[in-house]
Amino acid sequence: MFPSGSPKDARSRMMKFTDLKKALQEFGLETDELAVVSHYLQNFQVGRRNKFSAEAKKILKEIGFQIEPSELKWNIPFPSPKEPKFTFIDLFAGIGGMRTAFQSLGGKCVFSSEWDVKAQETYFENFGEVPFGDITKIESSQVPSHDVLVAGFPCQAFSIAGARGGFNDTRGTLFFDVARLIKAKRPDAFFLENVKGLKSHDRGKTLATILNTLRNDLGYYVPEPQIVNARNFGVPQNRERIFIIGFRRESAFSKFSYPVPSNQRPTIRDIKERDVVSVKYYMSNQYLRTLEEHRRRHESKGNGFGFEIISDDGVANAIVVGGMGRERNLVIDHRLKEFSPVTKIKGEVNRRGIRRMTPREWARLQGFPDKFIIPVSDAQAYKQFGNSVAVPAIAATGRNILRALES
Ligand SMILES: C[S@@+](CC[C@H](N)C(=O)[O-])C[C@H]1O[C@@H](n2cnc3c(N)ncnc32)[C@H](O)[C@@H]1O
Repeated sequence: MFPSGSPKDARSRMMKFTDLKKALQEFGLETDELAVVSHYLQNFQVGRRNKFSAEAKKILKEIGFQIEPSELKWNIPFPSPKEPKFTFIDLFAGIGGMRTAFQSLGGKCVFSSEWDVKAQETYFENFGEVPFGDITKIESSQVPSHDVLVAGFPCQAFSIAGARGGFNDTRGTLFFDVARLIKAKRPDAFFLENVKGLKSHDRGKTLATILNTLRNDLGYYVPEPQIVNARNFGVPQNRERIFIIGFRRESAFSKFSYPVPSNQRPTIRDIKERDVVSVKYYMSNQYLRTLEEHRRRHESKGNGFGFEIISDDGVANAIVVGGMGRERNLVIDHRLKEFSPVTKIKGEVNRRGIRRMTPREWARLQGFPDKFIIPVSDAQAYKQFGNSVAVPAIAATGRNILRALES
């Protein structure tokens, strides 16, 4: 607990963030309250009115806990930069892939929103902040002003009700909530990320509505969206995503270009675990037979979809949540010597060295630094990384956005 009295030496008043976090959790604060308190503590140095202070102080008073933001030692893997070059907000934040990229460019995140409790947990461990929940319930007045809005909004099929295909026709969709915040806060730039399929969805009408809203209703300068493959930016994963960028001012728009692919061409070998991994990642012979049968059935129907073993000098398929997500990216690893199962499996562990990738390998496929903490179960971790973004592709594009804004 925080030392009582007021010692003269400021250093003795310092409290580690991880201890504070533990204490707050022991008080049984709701996630919404943790969001308010952690946003307050994170935002004290931004040099503008801290939107969260009144409510946070009230919550802290109620639990009889005193802490000044300046007395916190941020012993977390991804603290905010001490002297931020710009501010941003992180919507549909997931586990903070976009935040990781934008912080690495010198950005200070002043607001985050993500409603999945397990993703919030991972975010808290890594960034010292609990994102606010449901974006549809967040008033624009609750959101601080910011320079860049980033949002990996979920692809949500929407059909266009009205003839014009603009702002009002997107009402009830999550894109509408992104647009409403852009409209209210007028950031210098935004960066929206979505699945490649958005481009062809409803024969292109959905994307046309999105662009029409951003360009004509909100008055932003939006270059033609680009499909970007993570593989071209230093991770061994074929992951194509659509990037939609916008600028408030034409001068920035005219200076922007999408980043050129890097020369780095890592392969699976570069992201593989350094040590022998648990037998739990190795499949049983019986399960492999099921996978082989499944593939044969699908191949005979003409769709080649099935499990896939990626060689050490290969590149992974896009990691995705659910379905055959993990089975499409099996690897060969002969280092295992002890084959007794540690989990309940049917039959014997295979001796061909075939295993799933580990959550850490998925983290690396997305370009997360190894200091990124994975505090959740494997099942949750696969979901969280599969849902996330390839950090280096975001960072490369973000860098060009900032250059355009600066010039
Ligand atoms: C594609 S993921 C984005 C991942 C994120 N960009 C990252 O780097 O990890 C979309 C996220 O939006 C969240 N989400 C969906 N609907 C939401 C809502 N109404 N309010 C807040 N978050 C929401 C989901 O839980 C999911 O984590």
